[in-house]
Amino acid sequence: MRKQLEELQARALEEVQRATSVAGLEELRVRILGKKGMLTQLLRGLKEVSDAERPELGMLANQLKEGFNAALTARMGDLHHLELQQRLALERIDVTLPGRRPHGGGRHPISRALSEIEDIFLQMGFPAVSGPEVESDWHNFGALNIPPDHPAREMHDTFYLAADSQGGARVLRTHTSPVQIRVMESRQPPLRVIAPGKVYRCDSDLTHTPMFHQVEGFMVDRDVHFGHLMGVMETFLRRFFERQLPVRFRPSFFPFTEPSTEVDMGCLFCEGSGCRICKGSGWIEVLGAGLIHPNVLANVGIDKEIYSGFAFGLGVERMAMLKYGIGDLRTLYENDVRFLSLHARGEGV
Ligand code: PHE
Repeated sequence: MRKQLEELQARALEEVQRATSVAGLEELRVRILGKKGMLTQLLRGLKEVSDAERPELGMLANQLKEGFNAALTARMGDLHHLELQQRLALERIDVTLPGRRPHGGGRHPISRALSEIEDIFLQMGFPAVSGPEVESDWHNFGALNIPPDHPAREMHDTFYLAADSQGGARVLRTHTSPVQIRVMESRQPPLRVIAPGKVYRCDSDLTHTPMFHQVEGFMVDRDVHFGHLMGVMETFLRRFFERQLPVRFRPSFFPFTEPSTEVDMGCLFCEGSGCRICKGSGWIEVLGAGLIHPNVLANVGIDKEIYSGFAFGLGVERMAMLKYGIGDLRTLYENDVRFLSLHARGEGV
């Protein structure tokens, strides 16, 4: 038995040194000292040895246990340290690597254009008002001198909605002009406002989206004439595009204005010599406008003998594309963050 104990001691100590991991050492401890461990089993044999031999063997067994435990603890410490060093080497973080940049948010070009337009008109005394996007047929068409069978309705690809509770026809507004009616119905001249907002037409291709933005503007007072319209349009376009553009007024037709005009400005890209953007003409069409039709004034109860006014409507998408150099209308609605952050920083090409 003494020999067995000595052998076990030698072997146990050797295995402690050979162990290469904390987990391996733990396993070894159980194998020697555990309930079914080798020492425990050897000690069961103590019952059989003579009384004379027992104390000495018992002492030897205790020495073995203590020696083994001490060696185990020391080795455990070493291995802990080693494993920590290995993990530190392996999981090292290079703090000099560049970080991941968060995506910067920014204002959409349409929002930017809208607030620039609003600022310019506010400086000229035109505050912004809004109106509903779901409109009555009367406000969108009838009051604007477009009766039900009028051919001008075909120019507007209208989204028709279910009638209201009184059976009145309703539409998604096809332009911001109904806001003229709403303002003139509820207030007396002098009037001077703009009405920015979303409008809807059942049309979708390279250059049309079913929803787009317009800014309506109008002024009603005594003695308002075409010269006022021309001055306000010229001032607005030159401020918005930040240069002394030539502006020209071409005769046109809208049912709610008489006379009506289409407003062109000198092409920003070729300065009049003719390019792809202006289709060689040197001019870009940007606005519809005119003097408010007497029938419209009559429809809202404004006395046309005392008052007159002008009105205009412009497309915000077109203004934004021209000013910020955006070539494709659809990019405005694709929500590609690369496009949005480029334009939010004002770096559009
Ligand atoms: N409402 C017209 C359109 O959408 C634009 C316009 C507004 C024309 C006001 C004249 C006066 O095309």
